[in-house]
Amino acid sequence: MSLSTEIEKRRTFGIISHPDAGKTTLTEKLLMFGGAIQMAGAVKARKASRHATSDWMKIEQERGISVASSVMKFNYRNYEINLLDTPGHQDFSEDTYRVLTAVDSAMMVIDSANGVEPQTEKLMEICRMRNTPIVTFINKLDREGLEPLDILSEIEEKLQIECAPMSWPIGMGKAFKGVYNLYKKQLNLFSAGADTSDFETVQISDLNDPRVDELLGSQADELRDDIELLEGAADPFDLEYFLAGSQTPVFFGSAINNFGVRELLDAFVELSPAPGPRQAVERMVHPDETDFSGVCFKIQANMDPAHRDRIAFFRICSGKFSKGMSVRHHRIGKDIKIPNATIFMAQDRAHVEAAYAGDIIGIHNHGTIKIGDTFTSKEKLKFTGIPNFAPELFRRVRLKDPMRRKQLHKGLIQLSEEGAVQVFKTLLGGDYILGAVGVLQFDVTVARLKSEYKVEADYVAADFQVARWITCDDDKKMTEFRRLFEANLAEDGDGFLAYLAPSAWKLNYTQEQWPDIIFHKTREHI
Ligand code: G4P
Repeated sequence: MSLSTEIEKRRTFGIISHPDAGKTTLTEKLLMFGGAIQMAGAVKARKASRHATSDWMKIEQERGISVASSVMKFNYRNYEINLLDTPGHQDFSEDTYRVLTAVDSAMMVIDSANGVEPQTEKLMEICRMRNTPIVTFINKLDREGLEPLDILSEIEEKLQIECAPMSWPIGMGKAFKGVYNLYKKQLNLFSAGADTSDFETVQISDLNDPRVDELLGSQADELRDDIELLEGAADPFDLEYFLAGSQTPVFFGSAINNFGVRELLDAFVELSPAPGPRQAVERMVHPDETDFSGVCFKIQANMDPAHRDRIAFFRICSGKFSKGMSVRHHRIGKDIKIPNATIFMAQDRAHVEAAYAGDIIGIHNHGTIKIGDTFTSKEKLKFTGIPNFAPELFRRVRLKDPMRRKQLHKGLIQLSEEGAVQVFKTLLGGDYILGAVGVLQFDVTVARLKSEYKVEADYVAADFQVARWITCDDDKKMTEFRRLFEANLAEDGDGFLAYLAPSAWKLNYTQEQWPDIIFHKTREHI
């Protein structure tokens, strides 16, 4: 099969949602449609085991599970789908953000009772950085929720994306009758408790068809009114807008009842983009170029504690990866042979024989791979777009045995290179401040410092709430800023200067006062 045929049939995406909106349930249904799992409950069981604890040691015991669920590959129709897990509960972390830099599109799940929630807003912000196309699923229509039109305006307002409803719900909660497919002019009828993909579908000529009244009774007129209103108010679907990330097609349903999921998946594979070109420092790289290239976007440590093993997850950006091939690891300038890369199926892992752009492969290593590393068959390339994200939580590290300071430094630098946590060293006093986007990252760091570097450390509160990397073209201004803000300045693990602010307000104020200083929310690994 030609390279472009392989690429055309691939879809690589992640799900963005707030905890409890139904991501796990939806994932499970999607995998079932793909025949990747036979039984409901398989993904849920994993989630339960992951949630049983926020303790790193126990997480480690579950590590096989969490790795297997990092990427779930399945087939649907003639598409090969890579679903990348976006950790969302206690395991919400910078990885969640980075995963979104490796996808070509995203599915957004919204709980119809809660509307747009904070974690969705955060994840959406990451998607917007790359204008990632987003398909929206409004879930839990079998429960009483917000008015559909209100949900759409909330999405438009809070997430700054235009909504194009593809289907429209008929009632909700106990009165939920199903959805009307606006484009196919079909009524998809719902019956509670039937966990099936074979809900009744009725083709109608238009909404005045008498069958609408027969089937929906008094709700028929409500639907007609809704659609009339919608036709005046809502935007029609526009593929170009969608692909540019400025419009999202919206579907309604109930994941737990498997209602609306097939329509969602069908539209998703048809509308969402195949793997596209990716930017490298040197040039744009196209997926159908014959030479292999890939970039590391995530590292998962301690797969096997006996070997201090790590798996580096690579997104293939171009060409074909074949088992046993040699690739150039450009940062260290060495060719390495990769005999046993792993590809992640929904329920187990397998050795990769061949993989193409959009696929994710796992490469074992012992700490020689950093996030952002690029591998190619020969050409020197460095992919961009996998940045560090400004941390949102901070802790000051307290070393219990001052004699172990060197080991602490080494451990923190290595852990930051792996993306487990971000480390900042204050200009004043040289204290280590750790930055994260999920609290579990702090627990993991302390546990790993102890087990891998024999360093006993804990945390005290740090008086910072926001961080921004800073640069300035005017050396004089920068020197002045450094002098005045020394107590709030720190260098990150790669030596880049960051301003740590005690509050968002203070950051805004400082930004206003110092227009020559550029405050960056993200920083590329360079
Ligand atoms: P998450 O991964 O986004 O955190 O959400 P998850 O799928 O675990 O779903 C969160 C809760 O919402 C679960 O209930 C799940 O059963 C429920 N849920 C998911 N989809 C629907 C839906 O379409 N309708 C309704 N009514 N509920 C839905 P739970 O009580 O937390 O767990 P469980 O007891 O069902 O396992």
